[in-house]
Amino acid sequence: MTVEIADISEIPMFNMDTRAEVGYPNTVADLRRKLQDADGLVIASPEYNHSLTGVLKNTIDWLSTGADSPLDRKPTAILGVGGRLGTAKSQAALRLVLAHKDVAVLNRPEVLLAGAGSLFDDDLNLTDERSQDQVRRLMFALAGQIRLHQGRDQAVVLGEDDELLAQASRLLDEAGYEVHTTTDPSWAISRLQDGKLSICVLENPHGDNEEIAALAADTDTRVVVIAGIDGFLDALDA
Ligand SMILES: Cc1cc2nc3c(=O)[nH]c(=O)nc-3n(C[C@H](O)[C@H](O)[C@H](O)COP(=O)(O)O)c2cc1C
Repeated sequence: MTVEIADISEIPMFNMDTRAEVGYPNTVADLRRKLQDADGLVIASPEYNHSLTGVLKNTIDWLSTGADSPLDRKPTAILGVGGRLGTAKSQAALRLVLAHKDVAVLNRPEVLLAGAGSLFDDDLNLTDERSQDQVRRLMFALAGQIRLHQGRDQAVVLGEDDELLAQASRLLDEAGYEVHTTTDPSWAISRLQDGKLSICVLENPHGDNEEIAALAADTDTRVVVIAGIDGFLDALDA
């Protein structure tokens, strides 16, 4: 796998009014796009006052908003380097936060590196072999989790209503689909053109429905059009 390190130092303080009035700040929009395109997420963080750092929580808040949140069900590994307990408390707090977006965080292996001062050389390379092995195991497990997710039947949910999209994608996820939620018809169309979609859920009414329905017929993709969440389970059953 290739790992890209995202710089979160320029992410501004979360402000819902900013999002409503001018959209996401550039640094946030970039990070959301990167995460949307990534197969998985690794969060490496210290512990501040027995919890996750404010900087990390602020970043997660920016990533968590909207029906197209790139955090939704993302295969994720967490690790940390700290004092005596090796960030045990901050990782527990982080799990609580990530559960809200149903982030697919690996429960095991846990990587809690204690005694940070003795694990690294002067250039901040992790030189402690036991710790290196723990990180390698975690990354193997993350690759496995990503493979499992990608092996599932793929579903796209397209629409504008945040709450409806969230509910539909939760139902599909619980039914075993790998779900991608979007407000962008061209993104749904590109997924359809890949020919790997099993099901495409469209919120009705939606301007691009006809083009999408035609494309779906060509690629053998099931289309379910929903006006509300009521009856969606029946439609899936049918
Ligand atoms: C405000 C603050 C609170 C901290 N609280 C904890 C803590 O609760 N547990 C712990 O293991 N380390 C704690 N530390 C030590 C950090 O984990 C340590 O600074 C970190 O490993 C190094 O990362 P940094 O240079 O990015 O701060 C704290 C550090 C700061 C600055």
